[in-house]
Amino acid sequence: MSFTAESRVPSPGSRAFPIAILASGRGSNLAALIDAQEAGRLAAGIVLVAGDKAEAPALRHAETHGIPTLALDPKTFASRAAFDEALFARVADGGAKLVVLAGYMRIIDPAVVERWHGRIINIHPSLLPKYRGLHTHRRVLRAGDREHGASVHFVTAELDGGPVIAQVHVPVLPDDTEATLAARLLVQEHRLLPACVSAIAQGRVTLIGNTVHFDGTPIGAPLRLDAGGRLIAA
Ligand code: GRF
Repeated sequence: MSFTAESRVPSPGSRAFPIAILASGRGSNLAALIDAQEAGRLAAGIVLVAGDKAEAPALRHAETHGIPTLALDPKTFASRAAFDEALFARVADGGAKLVVLAGYMRIIDPAVVERWHGRIINIHPSLLPKYRGLHTHRRVLRAGDREHGASVHFVTAELDGGPVIAQVHVPVLPDDTEATLAARLLVQEHRLLPACVSAIAQGRVTLIGNTVHFDGTPIGAPLRLDAGGRLIAA
């Protein structure tokens, strides 16, 4: 199937610090960002939701909230690099200063990642550096870990290997299945991602070289969330 699908409607958040979100699937983290924006809790405005799957629920969800969407079909490009150059050109055209990967299931071309250094973040369902890659909940259960979590990190060319900004932790319970563990963690992911996006939009979190800074100071450990959902030093 070949497709290039897009919708063009004004974004409700287009006057704030502009961000683009890339998503391939369900879109619950995207929904958490939209909810935060609509509640006035996001210090950023979502100007574009884009992805590689025209039928992704994430894109449909964005459309129902009046946010412009774009889907490009990787199969219509000669290479990964060509696809990513096209996608990120559209992201740049939209004015985004930050790209948020929220369940985006493609590895991004290293040259594009390098050009956007410090301006792409990803949410990953593990306590990085543990369990990079897929099936993190299954791997946590198989290892017998007592604790699991999620990380938001700056994206580098190394898969799930960029500097970690912040983490949330959840307990692993004796009768957990992948589904129960994933569900417990997802609730916390939905707190973590908007907090990180807001902190970057406010200039409180920056990447200098390969070191995350929080309020001008290099962090020695991933930031945490306080009870009110704000980032704090660990
Ligand atoms: C989340 O678990 C996220 O951490 C990972 O992919 C999943 C996406 O879920 N990167 P959703 O599409 O946001 O619901």
